[in-house]
Amino acid sequence: MLRILIIIYLSCAVIQCQETCGYYNVTDMLGVLEESPHLVHIRPVTDWEEPTYVTIDVTFRAVLDMDEKLQTLTTLMDLEMMWKNQLLSWNPLDFCGIPKIPIPEGSVWIPDMYISEITEDNSLDVMYLQLYHNGTVQRMKTLHIVTTCSLELYKFPFDAQKCNITFGSSVNPVTDMILTPGSSAENITSLSKEVFVTGEWSLQNVDIFHVNVSRRGEEWSKVIYQISMKRAPVMYVVNLIIPACLLVVVDVASMFIPMEGGERLGFKVTVVLGFSVLLLILNDFLPNTDNPPILGVFCMVCLVIMIISIMDSIFISYMLYLSAVRPDVPYWLKLWVLKRLAYVLRINTNETNMDTNKLCIDNKGVIETIPALTESELPTTNNVSKDFKDSIEIKLLKKLLRELLMVRHHLVTTKKEEDAKSEWHLVAFVLDRFILILYLVIVCFIAIVVVVVWAR
Ligand SMILES: *[C@@H]1O[C@H](CO)[C@@H](O)[C@H](O)[C@H]1NC(C)=O
Ligand SMILES: *[C@@H]1O[C@H](CO)[C@@H](O)[C@H](O)[C@H]1NC(C)=O
Ligand SMILES: *[C@@H]1O[C@H](CO)[C@@H](O)[C@H](O)[C@H]1NC(C)=O
Ligand SMILES: *[C@@H]1O[C@H](CO)[C@@H](O)[C@H](O)[C@H]1NC(C)=O
Ligand SMILES: *[C@@H]1O[C@H](CO)[C@@H](O)[C@H](O)[C@H]1NC(C)=O
Repeated sequence: MLRILIIIYLSCAVIQCQETCGYYNVTDMLGVLEESPHLVHIRPVTDWEEPTYVTIDVTFRAVLDMDEKLQTLTTLMDLEMMWKNQLLSWNPLDFCGIPKIPIPEGSVWIPDMYISEITEDNSLDVMYLQLYHNGTVQRMKTLHIVTTCSLELYKFPFDAQKCNITFGSSVNPVTDMILTPGSSAENITSLSKEVFVTGEWSLQNVDIFHVNVSRRGEEWSKVIYQISMKRAPVMYVVNLIIPACLLVVVDVASMFIPMEGGERLGFKVTVVLGFSVLLLILNDFLPNTDNPPILGVFCMVCLVIMIISIMDSIFISYMLYLSAVRPDVPYWLKLWVLKRLAYVLRINTNETNMDTNKLCIDNKGVIETIPALTESELPTTNNVSKDFKDSIEIKLLKKLLRELLMVRHHLVTTKKEEDAKSEWHLVAFVLDRFILILYLVIVCFIAIVVVVVWAR
C-alpha cells in the first residue's frame, strides 16, 4: 500500500500531474452503479468453464438460544465471503492510487449461499460490499439464524452438544463454484473464543469440514462448521436437581411419622404434588426422543416409589382400621409378613409374640384355678367353723373375691383384644419397614446410576 502511494507520489512529482480523483471516477469507469443485469445476475467469469472460488470465514459470537424441545439452535455469527469478479478491476495507478471502493449490495453479482440447517433468518441486511482493484469482492454479514441441531440430551444438564452449520450453493455445482474455508479451524476457534459471549453455553471448539456432496447427479461444494458447546449446569442444579433430591429426602423422612392418624398420608400427598411441579418444569426442557435423559428417568423412578409409599400408607391405615373391626390377622398374612418378611428384614417379632402368648396362658391358668379353689374351699369352711361362716368378714371377703375375679376377667379379655390389635400393628410395622428399605435401596441405586452416567 505504502509503496504504491510512494510510487504514485514520485511519478506525479516527476510528470507534474495534478489530477484529482473521486470514487466516482472508478465507478463511472466500471459502470457498477448502473445496475446492469449482466453485472448483477450473471456469474462474473470470462471463461464459463472456470469455477469461481468463494472463500468463507465464520466467527461465532454467541449462542442466543437452544430449544431442546424443538431441537433448534439460535446463533449469532459473522460471515465473511470473498470471491473474484473477473469483470471488475482497475489499475490504481490510473485512479490516483485508489485500491478499493465500497459499492452498494445488489450492484454486482454475489454467490447464492445458503445454510442447509436453517429454519429462520433474522439477519440484518448488508448495505455495502468492498471491491478491490484486482476484482476481489468482500462481503461481511452478521448472521442471526436459527438452525436445526440434533441434540444428545442423555446427560442433561451436564451435556455437551455438537451442531453443524453447512454452507453451500443451491444453483452452482462444484464445476461453477468452489467453497473453501479461509482460516484454519484453530484460528477460527481462538478468534471465536475471544469474542464469544458465554451464557448458558460456552464454546469449546470449532471444526471445519470441506467436502464435495453428490446430489442430483452432480457434485456440490460444501463447507461445514461444526461447533462444540458445553452447557453451564449450575442453574439446573440449583433449580431442579437439589429441590428434587430434597423432596425425596423429606419423603423418606416422612416414613417415620407415626402410622396412626392420617397425618403421614396428607404429608406424602403434598410432597408428591411438589415433586410433580418439578416434573412439569423438567418436561419443558425435554424433547420426545427415544433416549430420554437420565435425569428424567431418575425423577420418574422417584415419583413411582413415592406413589408406592403412599399406597403403603393407605394400606397401613386400612390395617389399623381392620385391627379394630376384625381382630384376628389372617394366617397367610401372619406367615408371609410376620415370619418370612420379618425374618428377611431381621425384625424380631417372635419375642413380643411369645410374651403375649405367655401372658395369655398365665391368665387362663389363674382364671381356671381361682373358681376351682373357691368352690372347693367354701364347703370345707362350711364344715369346719360355723361361727365364722356368717361372720361379716367372710361375707366381705367373698364379695371382694367376686369383684376381684370380675376385674381380672375383664382385664384378660381386654388384654386379648389388645394382643390381636398389636398383631395387626406388628404386621403394619413390618410392611412399613419393608417399604422404607425398598425405598432407600431403589433411590440409592438410581442415584448412583445417575451420578455414574454424569461423571462418565
Ligand atoms: C475524474 O473525474 C473528474 C470529473 O469528471 C475529472 O476532472 C478527472 O480528470 C477524472 N480523473 C481521472 C483520473 O480520470
Ligand atoms: C486482491 O487484493 C486484495 C487486497 O490487496 C488481496 O487481499 C487479494 O488477495 C487480492 N486477490 C487476488 C486474487 O490477487
Ligand atoms: C456434521 O458434519 C460431519 C462432517 O460431515 C458429520 O460427520 C456429522 O455426522 C455431522 N453431524 C450431524 C449432526 O449431522
Ligand atoms: C492462523 O493464525 C496464525 C497467527 O495469527 C497465522 O500465522 C496463520 O497463518 C493462521 N492460519 C491460517 C490458516 O489462517
Ligand atoms: C471437490 O471437487 C473439486 C472439483 O472436482 C476439486 O477441485 C476439489 O478438490 C474437491 N474438494 C474436495 C474437498 O474433495
